[in-house]
Amino acid sequence: MNPTLETIMNHRSIRKFTDEKLTEEEIHTIVKAAQMASTSSYVMAFTIIGVTDKEKKAQLRAVSGQPYVEDNAHLFVFCADLKRIHDQSSKDETVLTSLQSTEAFIVATVDASLAAQNAVVAAESMGLGICFLGSLRNDIRRTSEILNIPEYVIPLYGIAVGYPDHKPEQKPRFPIPVVYHENGYAQDEREQKQLLTEFDERIKDYYDSRSENQRLDTWTNQMDRKYSKLTRMDVTQYVQGQKLNIK
Ligand SMILES: Cc1cc2nc3c(=O)[nH]c(=O)nc-3n(C[C@H](O)[C@H](O)[C@H](O)COP(=O)(O)O)c2cc1C
Repeated sequence: MNPTLETIMNHRSIRKFTDEKLTEEEIHTIVKAAQMASTSSYVMAFTIIGVTDKEKKAQLRAVSGQPYVEDNAHLFVFCADLKRIHDQSSKDETVLTSLQSTEAFIVATVDASLAAQNAVVAAESMGLGICFLGSLRNDIRRTSEILNIPEYVIPLYGIAVGYPDHKPEQKPRFPIPVVYHENGYAQDEREQKQLLTEFDERIKDYYDSRSENQRLDTWTNQMDRKYSKLTRMDVTQYVQGQKLNIK
């Protein structure tokens, strides 16, 4: 396996970090790697906020409820950002409608996420560990307030980075035929169901035997729990209040 594949295949989320900080050069390397991701029509519709202020980190931890939002070597917050284009544009009705469309919103969230995953691979290739933090959307308005987020910008998630202070087992992924279908979406629903049943058995063993946070669970049960309650329903209104995804 080449070193790039080794880095990618070795991924696991890290939630405990040593006290070692990142140098400015390391931070810039990660940001530059993020910037080199492909970007739809060259829009580069994202901004990365590095949070170093202790008070702000504590406030963001309170939003998320997760200690590693505060206890890490560096915290990046990835934002979908159409403000630059808005501010540079002629602001005629058509431009505003374009920027406020679902399509533009998808472009910005995809752009930010491609950049984020590039940042992750870069960080992991440097021996660092990472954890994405969607929990900053537990109260997206508060996160937005803490980070002075303007209209046309959405804070999507954080990424906590630092030197790993634990080595969790890797979480298994679906077998390839679940996620890779040839020549169209898979038609054989029974086969897909069977694959997921087998996967659930595997996941049961994984949760039962892992060294940290053991429990009795399956992927299906986890999804059932997650989607049987309404969470973060305020995000829709927040995004629209930011003037995005309304046309
Ligand atoms: C967009 C996004 C948001 C996430 N948010 C959180 C989070 O708030 N807290 C957390 O502990 N993990 C979070 N994760 C990490 C996932 O739980 C983790 O990637 C997944 O369970 C697979 O585990 P692995 O990364 O160790 O392979 C997030 C991952 C993504 C991609």
